[in-house]
Amino acid sequence: MRIVSGMRPTGKLHIGNLLGALENWVKLQDNENENFFFVADWHMLTTGYEDTSKLKENTETLVREFLASGIDPKKSVVFVQSNVKEHAELHLLLSMIVQLGRLERIPTYKEQLRELKERNISTLGFLAYPVLQAADILAYNADGVPVGEDQAFHLEITREIAHKFNSLYGEVFKEPKTLLSRVPKLLGTDGRKMSKSYGNVINIDTNEKELKNMIMPMKTDPARMRRTDPGTPEKCNVWAYHKAFGTPQEKLDEIHRGCTSAKIGCVDCKKILIKSMKEKLEPIWVKIDELKAHPQIVKDVISEGNKKARTVAGETLQKVREAMNLY
Ligand code: TRP
Ligand code: SF4
Repeated sequence: MRIVSGMRPTGKLHIGNLLGALENWVKLQDNENENFFFVADWHMLTTGYEDTSKLKENTETLVREFLASGIDPKKSVVFVQSNVKEHAELHLLLSMIVQLGRLERIPTYKEQLRELKERNISTLGFLAYPVLQAADILAYNADGVPVGEDQAFHLEITREIAHKFNSLYGEVFKEPKTLLSRVPKLLGTDGRKMSKSYGNVINIDTNEKELKNMIMPMKTDPARMRRTDPGTPEKCNVWAYHKAFGTPQEKLDEIHRGCTSAKIGCVDCKKILIKSMKEKLEPIWVKIDELKAHPQIVKDVISEGNKKARTVAGETLQKVREAMNLY
C-alpha cells in the first residue's frame, strides 16, 4: 500500500499527536508499505498566515520529533510540502473542478471560521484547505491515509474529487481509504479538549519534573472527595491516561480494584501514571537531544525526502497534464 499523511507545523508535538497519529504512522512503516510523511506548512499558512515568524523553526522541530518518535527515513519518505511544488500545481488543477458550495458546506469549515474568528480566515486559501489536502494525497496516488477522526470529511472530499477527475478525464486517481487510528481521543489534563490555548497539553518533550507538575493536579473521579471514598476509574481522566500510556495489565487491575474499594489513593495512582509516561517518553527525549546536537541530520533527511517525493509526485502530475490535454 502507498501511505500518505501530513501534519501542520504548529510547534511541538503533544501526547495526543503521538498516540493518536504518529504511533499509527510508525506501525504502518513496518509492513510492506511505501510511506510518505510530510510537514504541511502550506496548510499551516491557511490559518496562520499573519504570523509566520516561527514557521521555519517549527518545520524542523516537527521533523525532529517525527524521527525521535520512530519515523525511520530508511522506511519512509519525510519531506516538506512547500518544497514539492507539484502539490501546488495539482491544487490549482483540482480547484477547477470543485464546487464552492461543497467546500462551504463542510462542517469543520464553518466550525473553524467560528472558532478562529479573531484570525480573519475568510480567505480563499482557507476555503480551499481541503482541495490542497486532496492534492497532497492524490499527488502520490495514495491507497491509505492514516488520520484522526477530525479529518474524515477532508478524506471524503478527496475521494469525491478523485472520482470527478476520473470521470471527466479518464482513470488517473485511486480513491484513497481513510485509516482511522483506534486510540480513543485523549483529553487535556483539565478534562477539556486538548488545546494549547487552555494550557492543558503535555508536549512529548515535557521532562519528568514538568510531567509531575501537570499530572499531580489532575482532576479525578469527583466521587473521591476523601481518600476513603471509593471511585470509578471509568469516570476518571487519569485512568484514560493509564490506558493510553500502556500501564501494564496487572497494574491496571490493581488500580481498578484499589480505586473501587478506596484502597489506593489518587496520589499513588498518579505516581504510577508518571512512571508509565516516563517509560514511553524517555527514549523520545533522548533522541530529541541527540538530533538537537546534530542539526544537520534533520536537514539532510528533509532534502533527501524532498527529492524522492518530487520524483513520485512528478510522475503523477505528468499523467494529470496528459489526461487534461495540457500542452
Ligand atoms: N489537515 C491535516 C491536519 O490538520 C494535515 C494534512 C494536510 C494532511 N494534508 C494532509 C493529513 C494530507 C493527511 C493527508 O491534521
Ligand atoms: Fe482516578 Fe486513579 Fe483516583 Fe481512581 S485512584 S479516581 S483511577 S486517579
